[in-house]
Amino acid sequence: MVAWRRAVAVGALWWLGVCAGANDALSACQTCHAKAAPPLALVLRRYLLLYSAKEDVAKKMKAFLMHPSKKRSAMPEGMKNRFNPQLHPAFSAPAAKTAVWALILREDPIKKIMPPTVARSSETPEGKESRQ
Ligand code: HEC
Repeated sequence: MVAWRRAVAVGALWWLGVCAGANDALSACQTCHAKAAPPLALVLRRYLLLYSAKEDVAKKMKAFLMHPSKKRSAMPEGMKNRFNPQLHPAFSAPAAKTAVWALILREDPIKKIMPPTVARSSETPEGKESRQ
């Protein structure tokens, strides 16, 4: 019984750590992206528009963050001229990967459209409608 309780406590601490880790992964970005730079949610939407699949979005965004350049930028011309992508801080491969996936998971559009309490079944009329 005691061992079981301990396992639950350890599990809860681990989960808190995972959540805190996801925040930490993006806190370095927020210094700019919460004020001067375009919001990360908006940036992600632009990438989703261009590349669709999460894996492709992650690949392109990671490539940009490791070697920021105008050529790798996915932003529209106007934004490229206003903010120079060349001047974006560069990140290591692991840091870029962690931040990119933290962002993708935080802004997951499916998660936002469908609250977890709503069944994601295509059998329900709502499910069918939202898929069209
Ligand atoms: C020093 C300020 C600063 C920091 C720190 C910063 N950014 Fe940016 N970021 C910008 C600015 C300004 C732009 C808009 C110009 C551009 O597109 O590069 C931008 C654009 C981007 C883009 C779009 C790139 C493109 O042009 O396709 C992504 C993706 C991005 N940031 C992700 C991140 C992530 C993830 C972090 C943290 C790991 C981060 N940024 C940290 C200032 C910053």
